[in-house]
Amino acid sequence: MPRTQTLETIHRNPEAPSQAFPERAPVILVLEQSGSNRNFLRGALRNERCRIVSATTAARAREVLGRETVDLVILDLTLPGSNCLDFCRELKSDRCTRLIPVLILTSAEGAKNEIAGISSGADEFLVRPLSPAVVRARIHALLRHKAAIDSLEEAESILFALARAVEQRDKAIGGHCERLAAISLMVGTELGLPRPQLLALYRGGFLHDIGKIAIPDAILFKPGPLDDAEWAVMRTHTIKGEEICRHTRTLEAVLPIIRSHHERWDGSGYPDGLRGEQIPLLARILQVADVYDALTSTRPYKRAFSPKEAFAVLEAEARRGWRDRRLVAVLRKVMEAAGADAMTRSLENMRRALLT
Ligand SMILES: [Fe+2]
Repeated sequence: MPRTQTLETIHRNPEAPSQAFPERAPVILVLEQSGSNRNFLRGALRNERCRIVSATTAARAREVLGRETVDLVILDLTLPGSNCLDFCRELKSDRCTRLIPVLILTSAEGAKNEIAGISSGADEFLVRPLSPAVVRARIHALLRHKAAIDSLEEAESILFALARAVEQRDKAIGGHCERLAAISLMVGTELGLPRPQLLALYRGGFLHDIGKIAIPDAILFKPGPLDDAEWAVMRTHTIKGEEICRHTRTLEAVLPIIRSHHERWDGSGYPDGLRGEQIPLLARILQVADVYDALTSTRPYKRAFSPKEAFAVLEAEARRGWRDRRLVAVLRKVMEAAGADAMTRSLENMRRALLT
């Protein structure tokens, strides 16, 4: 068994313009046993701004992944004593590593290996003998892709942090977003919605009221009832929320929830006065979950209603023409089947299923 070795090398492009606040150099993890192959890669990337971390076993590579933010993994398909494709599958099924691009290198030619490599989740596949220029070009492309994903993830994380800040400003609604995400997911699952729509419901639970960040405290926290002018401002949280999230592409499916969660089945809601099935389904689901959670929670102006009392109100609102009757019935079914513990467990399970 060859000795495990980790070699770390920093390469910087001397021609790169100097930056007052240079960004972190991308980290490339190379899982490769052959010293000459490692040397080839180091030589090919000699003038690139990147840090190469080499490991000779999958176990050592896992250690590196546990302590480093890795931007690209290069694997040798012929790695002895370890199944490279299994390691690639492992990377792509782990929430923490699934977005790291994987480049597989091999000496074994043939479409069969290439198909096996790609089907294991690898993003690129190169067959030796390798040209340094081709290797560099592929690595550049993969690192560009990773940087784009990182910036999207960062934007989304910032929005989620903002949504939590909105919730925390109002102590009276603590935990509302978590519960709303859980209840909406339970309804969406009962309806058999596909994974992208469930993911949108989960995100919508947190982000639906993000536009409240733009509502003045004097209106948001006014102890008494709002006057007409104040209501007009309050209603804009739907449009402002949509504007805040519009530029994050991963949130595209959440925008209709943010904009339309205050529409009513009979057209008397806002901001667009949509009616019936004109109102996006996900917004209707989130709305009934939102009303149910508000009714069953303690607020400064009311006690927490029991589930039975809450459904009496929701069903009365459905008869009045405000809510989607079918969704109120589905909500009743799933809430009667699930206690509070089951709801928390189901959120955890669904979060794992959606985000891994
Ligand atoms: Fe709202």
